[in-house]
Amino acid sequence: MSKDLFEAARDAMKYAHAPYSKFPVGAAIRADDGKVYAGANIENLSFPQGWCAEPTAIGCMIMGGGRKIVEMAVIAEKLALCPPCGGCRQKIAEFAGPETRIYLCDDGGVQKTLTMDELLPFAFKTESLG
Ligand code: THU
Repeated sequence: MSKDLFEAARDAMKYAHAPYSKFPVGAAIRADDGKVYAGANIENLSFPQGWCAEPTAIGCMIMGGGRKIVEMAVIAEKLALCPPCGGCRQKIAEFAGPETRIYLCDDGGVQKTLTMDELLPFAFKTESLG
C-alpha cells in the first residue's frame, strides 16, 4: 500500500466525531478514478444514529465521482488492528471485488492485509435483485 493512502486514513481519524466512544477511526479509499477519499466515524447523542468511518469514506467517494474501491485502509487510534465491523463489510463489498485489498493499519503502517473475500466470506449475493 502506498504512503498516501495510509496517511489519508491516519489524517481522517483527526476529524472523527467520537465524543461518546472516544474511539476515533479513519478510513481511506483509492478509487477507480485514481483519487483518494477519506472518512472518519461520526457519532450521535442518540447512539444508534452514529456511523462508522468506512461509510463516510464511501459517501465521499460516490459524491466525488469514484465508483469502485481499488484498495482501502482502516486505522483506529486505540486498536492495533481495527477490522471493519460486520455492517461495514457489507457496505465495502458493494463497491469492491473479491480481490480488493483492505489494509488494517496502526500508527506505523499496515499490520494486516486482507482481500474482500477474506473479510466477508460467503457474502450475500443474488441475481434476483438485479
Ligand atoms: N467504528 C468504525 O468507525 N469502524 C468500524 O469498522 C468499527 C467501529 C466506530 C464506530 C464508533 O464510532 C466507534 O468506532 C466505537 O465503536
